[in-house]
Amino acid sequence: MNGAVAVTDDGAVRTIRLNRPEKKNALTLAMYADMTRTLRESNQSDAVRCIVIAGAPGVFCAGNDIGDFLGAAMGGGLDTRALDFMRELVANKKPLVAAVGGVAVGIGTTLLLHCDHVVASTDALLSTPFLKLGLIPELGSTLLAPLRMGHARAFSLLAMGRPLSAAEAKDAGIVNTVVEAADLEVTARQAAREIAALPVTALATAREMLRGPADAVLARIEAEAACFAKLLQSDEARTAFKAFFARKK
Ligand code: COA
Repeated sequence: MNGAVAVTDDGAVRTIRLNRPEKKNALTLAMYADMTRTLRESNQSDAVRCIVIAGAPGVFCAGNDIGDFLGAAMGGGLDTRALDFMRELVANKKPLVAAVGGVAVGIGTTLLLHCDHVVASTDALLSTPFLKLGLIPELGSTLLAPLRMGHARAFSLLAMGRPLSAAEAKDAGIVNTVVEAADLEVTARQAAREIAALPVTALATAREMLRGPADAVLARIEAEAACFAKLLQSDEARTAFKAFFARKK
């Protein structure tokens, strides 16, 4: 672990905390690798019965590190570490709770579609500006979001890039509970403890059935990733990445 992903255990509840606040918790390749390892290890541990994914105060996750996107676009090619994380997220058998405060951009929003329970604070803002970056949505969101909220709302979020407030995300079925920022983590941990206390085999069986077959989600992740990798090399994407870093100059 490089410190940008912190893992702590409290009884049967494991917390994976994104911890790069100076860059708004933008996910680097190393952070994806850390999260993949942690999910894999948690999956194999009987001691872990629920996982909380949390951010830093006022910031959940600003999405993929755009510097890494730029590196890939300028010739490095797409590293597999983000895709490995997505596959592991689908393979993961432990219930996932998210505690979302502040910005949740790109994969910071699409990963919520894979969580079993989402608590957001009133200041949370979910957005997926993929198309504005010349890219397409990922992590199976083109499949999962329309199922969750219907085509019109999924199109507004994922294609038009219109953000959702915490209340709108609750209305769209992404978020379970909206609380004040000060209550965010305690509420998420409470839900995680409640889940962790359920009979383990019945919970695992119910969860698997509620989520449905993983094959379709995995196939969509791969299909999205193939298009994403091509679009990453486009002039539109390169220009958008450079514009992000030039915006303050
Ligand atoms: N990749 C790389 N760096 C990022 C980043 C990202 N996704 N998001 C934020 N950062 C960095 C900024 O470059 C800045 O670094 P600096 O202090 O060295 O200049 C730092 O984090 C703080 O960000 P800043 O933009 O100053 O904060 P803000 O509060 O004004 O805005 C965001 C926060 C998240 C709205 C804004 O940073 C943003 O839009 N980020 C990009 C989100 C994105 O498009 N992600 C990809 C989705 S596919």
